Amino acid sequence: MSDAESTLITGIGELVSNDGEPSGGQPDSSQPGSFAAMTDAALVIAGGKVAWTGPASRAPAADTVVDVAGRAVLPGFADSHAHLVFAGERSAEFAARMAGRPYRAGGILGTVEATRAAPDSALRANLRRLAAEMLRQGTTTFECKSGYGLTVPDEARGVALAAEVTPEVTYLGAHVVPPEFAADPAGYVDLVCGPMLDACAPAARWVDVFCEDGAFGADEAAAVLAAGQAAGLYARVHANQLGPGPGVRVAAEAGAASADHCTFLTDDDVDTLASTPVVATLLPGVEFSCRQPFPQARRLLDAGAVVALATDCNPGSSFTSSMPFCIALAVREMGMTTEEAVWAATAGGARALRRTDIGHLGVGARADLILLDAPSHTYLAYRPGVPQIAAVWQAGNLVAGAVP
Ligand code: NIG
Ligand code: FE
Repeated sequence: MSDAESTLITGIGELVSNDGEPSGGQPDSSQPGSFAAMTDAALVIAGGKVAWTGPASRAPAADTVVDVAGRAVLPGFADSHAHLVFAGERSAEFAARMAGRPYRAGGILGTVEATRAAPDSALRANLRRLAAEMLRQGTTTFECKSGYGLTVPDEARGVALAAEVTPEVTYLGAHVVPPEFAADPAGYVDLVCGPMLDACAPAARWVDVFCEDGAFGADEAAAVLAAGQAAGLYARVHANQLGPGPGVRVAAEAGAASADHCTFLTDDDVDTLASTPVVATLLPGVEFSCRQPFPQARRLLDAGAVVALATDCNPGSSFTSSMPFCIALAVREMGMTTEEAVWAATAGGARALRRTDIGHLGVGARADLILLDAPSHTYLAYRPGVPQIAAVWQAGNLVAGAVP
């Protein structure tokens, strides 16, 4: 479709627009609002953006008309947490966990070794395969971290490769302390905050740190985030994944966009997430794959926190790229309603990435949308494990699947 052409998608059984009135604020079509859905709807795409939405009976004329025969249309998923630049795989570690061994951050080093040894071509091929896998499953925006290089050239390579496939690139030099710095973790933090940051910041938008026992403590994490911010990056944090800890507090003090994982939260952490703009990004693929208790989404939502869902796609703790799978887990295991889970996977991800152009289908939003081969968003949780993404549009272009 050329930019000048318009497309009318009509016969939409349920149009999830996420342009409802935000709690405590005025509706604003330039950013996501609350969950909102309309039956018997239509939507017009023009210039790569949503140009009109409303009842199908009142749809304006357009150059091309597509009738989706009662199926549901949703905003594309915004997967705000993924580690896709890596080599190798860790299925044996997964099998060992399922046989009773716990997940520890140490497994990351196996992937670091494989990643350092891999040529660019192998990393790029794996990254592109996973990005394509995400797109077919309805993810139209994803974040991608470095963090399996942990040397200056390997981290610089990680962010450069990530930047080939997404604008949401995160510098995660502070993933774990690599073996060559085992006796000098402070020296590694200096490297992360100095020459490694200098080499990575130009290709990145975000800085992240794994704030956890066995990775980086509160002071180290705060130093990494402050250095990243001084270099023009925005902060996000791996927080409270393996046990209670300072991650959420560190995220809030740094003004981070998001605290990710949030599996072990104190009441103070919940209050912090509810009273600051930090999004609580929940990653239920991790708890599924590590056989851990799921994060308490209900507790966060009831307290008033903004919740996002993401895959954390990585070869260790969560090797899924499927947002529909995460939605199904969130609904079945975390007490979220189907509306809350779909909002968290779309508008919530957009909030966690500080994006206003995605995650909703208000007029002016980027025309990133999914056609479900089902009549409503509920089917994403009602039919778990079933491929139901019939077609995907990105900026108004049909990029995966077809209209049945
Ligand atoms: O988000 N928590 C730290 N990093 C990843 C795990 C990476 C790995 O196990 O390779 C995570 O779970
Ligand atoms: Fe992660």
